[in-house]
Amino acid sequence: MRVIIVKDYDAMSKLAAKFIREQMEVKPNLVLGLATGSTPLGLYKELIRMHKEEHLDFSKVVTFNLDEYIGLPKDHPESYYSFMWDNLFKHINIPESHIHIPDGTIVTPEEIESGRLPIRKIEAYCEWYENEIKKYGGIDIQVLGIGRDGHIGFNEPGSSLGSRTRIKTLLEVTRRDNARFFDGDINKVPKYALTMGVGTIMEAKTLLLLASGENKAEAIKMTVEGPVTARYPATIIQLHPKAIVIVDEPAASQLEYEYERA
Ligand code: F6R
Repeated sequence: MRVIIVKDYDAMSKLAAKFIREQMEVKPNLVLGLATGSTPLGLYKELIRMHKEEHLDFSKVVTFNLDEYIGLPKDHPESYYSFMWDNLFKHINIPESHIHIPDGTIVTPEEIESGRLPIRKIEAYCEWYENEIKKYGGIDIQVLGIGRDGHIGFNEPGSSLGSRTRIKTLLEVTRRDNARFFDGDINKVPKYALTMGVGTIMEAKTLLLLASGENKAEAIKMTVEGPVTARYPATIIQLHPKAIVIVDEPAASQLEYEYERA
């Protein structure tokens, strides 16, 4: 694992964008795995700037998003579909047919809660999503944020470290953290999500995990220096042959050992 500590959020975002750009120069049809949330916003802004000012070309790039809420229509302002279009896709020249975001409308929260799950339909959809990734030769770079509880994608503590794309129930800590996007009201935050599994994420050729801010310090300490455990699903990246962790100083504040600084 390569751990790089940078000064702040801006430096984290720029270094991550530089890395992706370099890979796009080598492989213009790069397959990118993408995350949502606050963490990658600066990275997406920098990629948009590179596209607008330096003609970075996304016409051959293919993307797969990690996850999507269940229970929000696609056009809901807080769906990850809207998030990705507003914060990246509509500003770059990526063809719509190259974009993949899990469809959180294949099942409703009511169906989940009633126990009348359309299991075949869900399984078929999840299998289709995984097969699409394979069809493009796998994900070259998977961008990851991290939850305070150590989740990656929406693989909450206790997730199987070999899990595949499936439905997960969000923990209260995650819903509380995400309430800031829903008028501060936890009751408006969906309870379920469709997410790539930990096993799916681990198949990406490179993992690029980003973290900023002191509230991520404990999760980063566990991820980099703790034992591999389903208690903190992100710790699995210690087993990945090419995992890069870019953290700012506050997020790195609990790390015990010396790491690369940029
Ligand atoms: C979202 C995702 C999540 C977030 C995590 C951190 O697609 O995969 O794992 O990366 O919840 O969220 P932020 O960046 O908002 O702190």
